[in-house]
Amino acid sequence: MIIDGKQIAQQLKEELRGQVAVLTGKYGRKPCLDVIIVGQNPASMSYVKSKIKATEYCGFDGELIQLPEATSQEELLRVIAERNGKDDVDGILVQLPLPKHIDEQTVIEAIAPGKDVDGFHPSNVAGLWLNQPAIVPCTPLGIIALLEQTHVDLGGRHAVIVGRSNIVGKPIAKLLLDKNCTVTIAHSRTKDLAAICRKADILIVAVGRPRMITADMVKQGAIVIDVGINRLEDGRLVGDVDFETVAPIAGAITPVPGGVGPMTITMLMRNTIECYKKRINK
Ligand code: GUN
Repeated sequence: MIIDGKQIAQQLKEELRGQVAVLTGKYGRKPCLDVIIVGQNPASMSYVKSKIKATEYCGFDGELIQLPEATSQEELLRVIAERNGKDDVDGILVQLPLPKHIDEQTVIEAIAPGKDVDGFHPSNVAGLWLNQPAIVPCTPLGIIALLEQTHVDLGGRHAVIVGRSNIVGKPIAKLLLDKNCTVTIAHSRTKDLAAICRKADILIVAVGRPRMITADMVKQGAIVIDVGINRLEDGRLVGDVDFETVAPIAGAITPVPGGVGPMTITMLMRNTIECYKKRINK
């Protein structure tokens, strides 16, 4: 079974669009997401364009703020502070990675926690881990939504996550713990990765290494979620999983493109609407 993230994301986006129309009528203002990009990293430019397109589809207001590569950290912090102070801005997203002369953590911490639609601010990270109200990162939310689509009971299942990033690996581990999975986090220093991956009922891969997960690393019937988006020299996009050889073994698998990526964007729309609702109700 191939998990059609594109279609599931589209359905959810249609629902959100309906909600936005109702909310806009009721409160007289659209949700608003501002997206900031520094420099012209081609992958980042492409992601940001998809995010803006989704905001337009859902009926949001918002601005794409394109800053030159040479923008100073001070200037970026000034732009963020200005958006923090605007009452009609609900969400602020700074596309990562940032140029080397800018400290990412400082930038993340400058975003008002209530507008941090990525869920990267320490207040939101703490909230997630302490089971308190928090904005949860979009990719992990999208993965959970895809797993729910398979109607597999997650309780007691062994989930192996390959990758320990703050954006995906760590937060998805917490969400899967909350679903009563037994969770293993593997990473670049893990010994005998293949043996650990073969134990997985649910295998989630977020490392950014093209087709590193091969058929010999996957248990028959496992659910495989591929978070990687890698561009090969010939221009093709492939995941971290070798789809051709793994798909016949997997019980269910996400393709790249058209798997996790579209769900991440849809969850960004959902997080923005949640921020909007909280601000309206204040
Ligand atoms: N770069 C790669 N993934 C993400 C994401 O989810 N949010 C932001 N802001 N930057 C990213």
